[in-house]
Amino acid sequence: MEPYPIVADGLVLDELRLADVERVRAYCQDPDIRLWTAVPMPYGRADAHEFITGTQAKGWEDGTELTWAIREPISASTLRLAGTVGLKLDGQGSSEIGFLLAPDSRGRGLATVAVRAVVRHALDQYGLKLRRVVWKAVAGNWASRQVAVRAGFSIEGTIRSEVLLHGRARDAWVGTVIVGDMAIEDGTWADIPVQRLPGA
Ligand SMILES: CC(C)(COP(=O)(O)OP(=O)(O)OC[C@H]1O[C@@H](n2cnc3c(N)ncnc32)[C@H](O)[C@@H]1OP(=O)(O)O)[C@@H](O)C(=O)NCCC(=O)NCCS
Repeated sequence: MEPYPIVADGLVLDELRLADVERVRAYCQDPDIRLWTAVPMPYGRADAHEFITGTQAKGWEDGTELTWAIREPISASTLRLAGTVGLKLDGQGSSEIGFLLAPDSRGRGLATVAVRAVVRHALDQYGLKLRRVVWKAVAGNWASRQVAVRAGFSIEGTIRSEVLLHGRARDAWVGTVIVGDMAIEDGTWADIPVQRLPGA
């Protein structure tokens, strides 16, 4: 499969390029990215280079892992790399979504916009025509959970000892969106349950 862009509410989702190596290296030093995702530690330019030219390129080529750069406009003519969103496809109509943002791109809802756009594209009959997108996060990752809920995922529960993260077994929260959650006629979402954070 060839990489292709998605335009979503002012954001451009397209492929990571070699010009992104330094920004990817820099944001992968962020403590939250290290805490909640399986990025190699330490993370250097070679890791960013390998992610772009190896993992990303191969994933598109064999259609098993589709990675998009999330780019936000910072002026009339400039887009800044804000992070990435990706889908791992199981070859049977299901997929798992993953996403992250650079610290200076957080707090403005960009992940929700990007995740929502990729989910819609994944389930759309004119897109990837999948039946399901799964969200999984290490239990306790409230920022990720907020994004998932706002993007339309139904939170289903906790799977014990689901992920090995930096050598430690961790419980995971799981949520899903299935094709029936989208109103077919007009392409808008069916009612999305609003879940409140503790203390909210
Ligand atoms: C997950 C991530 C992409 C979300 O970015 P974002 O959309 O900009 O979201 P924010 O950081 O603004 O947080 C989203 C919401 O969660 C809330 N939140 C964040 N941390 C929280 C915590 N520890 N407890 C409760 N709520 C929390 C925020 O207040 C925000 O809610 P609000 O908009 O009502 O204030 C970003 O935090 C990130 O890249 N984290 C590291 C990588 C990661 O965890 N990826 C997901 C792996 S599954």
